Amino acid sequence: MPIEPFTLVILGATGDLTRRLLFPAIYRLIKKERLPEFKVVGFAREDWTPEQFLKHLEKNLKEFVPNFSKDVWDELKGRIDYLQGDLTPEHLKQLEEKLDGNALFYLALPPQFFDEAAISLGAAGLHREKNGWRRLIIEKPFGWDLSSAQQLRKHLHKHWKEHQLFRIDHFLGKETVQNLMVFRFANRFMEPIWNSANIAQVQITAAETLGLEGRYKYYDQAGALRDMLQNHLMQIFALTAIEPVSRWNADNLRQHKVEVLQSVRSIPLDRVKEFAVRGRYGAGEMDGKTVPGYMEEEGVPHTSRTETFAAVKLYIDNWRWEGVPFYLRSGKRMKETYTEVAVQFKEVPTQLFDGVEDLSNWLIFRMKPAESIELVAYAKTPGLNLETRPVVLRTELSRKEEEDFSAYEQLLVDAAEGDQTHFLRYDEVEEAWRILDPILKAWTRGQPEEYPSGALGPNGQGRLMDPGHYWRTPEDD
Ligand code: BG6
Repeated sequence: MPIEPFTLVILGATGDLTRRLLFPAIYRLIKKERLPEFKVVGFAREDWTPEQFLKHLEKNLKEFVPNFSKDVWDELKGRIDYLQGDLTPEHLKQLEEKLDGNALFYLALPPQFFDEAAISLGAAGLHREKNGWRRLIIEKPFGWDLSSAQQLRKHLHKHWKEHQLFRIDHFLGKETVQNLMVFRFANRFMEPIWNSANIAQVQITAAETLGLEGRYKYYDQAGALRDMLQNHLMQIFALTAIEPVSRWNADNLRQHKVEVLQSVRSIPLDRVKEFAVRGRYGAGEMDGKTVPGYMEEEGVPHTSRTETFAAVKLYIDNWRWEGVPFYLRSGKRMKETYTEVAVQFKEVPTQLFDGVEDLSNWLIFRMKPAESIELVAYAKTPGLNLETRPVVLRTELSRKEEEDFSAYEQLLVDAAEGDQTHFLRYDEVEEAWRILDPILKAWTRGQPEEYPSGALGPNGQGRLMDPGHYWRTPEDD
């Protein structure tokens, strides 16, 4: 679809998200000539001139873009402007002079400013679609719990309509997450086996070696459950479990995702321990270096009970998934960085051959460290005996030209095209909070279990597993 001319207005243009992720994505889109008639206006409190803003961007692009090209930068910099101001309607109103019609407002701001920014933009009349479209991008977290999410919704909708709101979950821009859909719905053989008759369990893991990275202000308020599970992993979960859609469009897809989330069995407040485990990294060894524990990290209050690891077990009460546990977990300072959806199939009913004892197949969608889909199957061991051995059928997903790509490019292009397929609808957000709210409540007391940095997470995670199920580890590959 051709992209109409538009202006991207970044609120919070001097911040971290803008320099690390947004501008590198914009730079690559310019390089690929995907944004023909496009301007960008940075808006922030810093009293900078447009030249200072350009200098800051150039320095950061050189750091974050491999093989920085001066030609691409020359092409991009002519389209960049800067305006200094606060999030008041009076200041924001000045933006109108810099817009020609279509405008995409990106709130690259700390979440506590989302309400104010959305309301002030509206009060300044910038949401009005008089001579062109007006859209607003916000990025998770969408609230801190169910009631604050409802409050945020009210504030966003004071001026903006749902068709103008683009709630980013950057995982939906990832190649493998999209491939979950394509692989399932483009292959006839998948549908008959994608159900509780054939699938024993699903494990969705996002393990990171990274620690706090100086983000203590945000992270200590959030914790792993809010930072990763409520949004990224819940989205992957819903996409893994959805019913086939009849047409590929935003409404259908989002409706089907909501239906999955609505069917998730509620976790009773007094049984949270059976369904959720929390952990917090202590000191340990990462890459041969000693690293401090979470409580010793700069800025973390000594009263903190924030978890850096969270695992939950969910059941979907519908015909397709009755009785199949979905295990979701994410942790910081883990042994290795890997993100995957691993689906275990039930074993064959009879063991006919010697060799491997557990003949259950695994289908694994890998996002990190590299993108691929793998099927662990069994085949004959070469030789005179009829014996089985595991073989891995693997597709590599990242082709050369795709390496220079991030989820943000996909999402910026989608938002500019007005395609909401990869953005969240409000009811998805609310359902995800409903599922996790009892856990959040239970975790306002007690402390997470400590695990050493560089380990596989807290020992307690094992208690979530149904009989015969074990958490996969990087060594299982
Ligand atoms: C972000 C979280 O949303 O996702 C971070 O706030 C996390 O804590 C990051 O590290 C992981 O994203 P990715 O794309 O690096 O896997």
